[in-house]
Amino acid sequence: MSPRRFFVGGNWKMNGDKKSLGDLINTLNTAQLNSETEVVCGAPAIYLDFARSNLDARIGVAAQNCYKVPKGAFTGEISPAMIKDCGVEWVILGHSERRHVFGESDELIGQKVAHALESGLGVIACIGEKLDEREAGITEKVVFEQTQAIADNVKDWSQVVLAYEPVWAIGTGKTASPQQAQEVHDKLRQWMKANVSEEVADSVRIIYGGSVTGANCKELGSQPDVDGFLVGGASLKPEFVDIINARA
Ligand code: G3P
Repeated sequence: MSPRRFFVGGNWKMNGDKKSLGDLINTLNTAQLNSETEVVCGAPAIYLDFARSNLDARIGVAAQNCYKVPKGAFTGEISPAMIKDCGVEWVILGHSERRHVFGESDELIGQKVAHALESGLGVIACIGEKLDEREAGITEKVVFEQTQAIADNVKDWSQVVLAYEPVWAIGTGKTASPQQAQEVHDKLRQWMKANVSEEVADSVRIIYGGSVTGANCKELGSQPDVDGFLVGGASLKPEFVDIINARA
């Protein structure tokens, strides 16, 4: 069995309200969850305090983004300090929707990673290629460049989880096959070994995201270099419990 603690993140994205998220939180609070699995739910910023105040302490909470400085004239943004002020321990950074909908660059994502870590947050750092990049055979080039921009800003990898999310699998129902996921995760771990250290490569959790469901999570989760998941749509449904227990 892998020495890395299995990690399952939920990314609620811009979904839900206090009623529906309250019902989801109650489902999670009363569910039998594999205690060997680390669970973190990514809530919309406006509901971070609500999620943290109502989720059982065994379940972590993540913001879905943050800015790169502690405070200032940045209308609409939130800082790592504000996230921690709500008792929230994690932040998702570099999600493909931040990159491709809102135009965040590798450089900006790296700066956000640095500030979030120095502020004491754990970081779920997202990378992943687009369909045209995979079809052009440059998946490794793309994800290595994205990972380099993150690695340049990390001193302590124990506070980082790397999420490989092929953009073509996000929200499409076209999940990467277990073999496709394992291949890229293995390449990423080899990259970490060559460019960071063997110790970090062996210990960093590399999780998969992109149309993970209760039906496909066990086979995906059985791959040696898949250390968990970052789940979108299914994290808003009771089947998220099955995904959390994929390695039970
Ligand atoms: O961050 C996880 C998300 O991008 C995956 O979304 O709906 O394909 O599970 P989904």
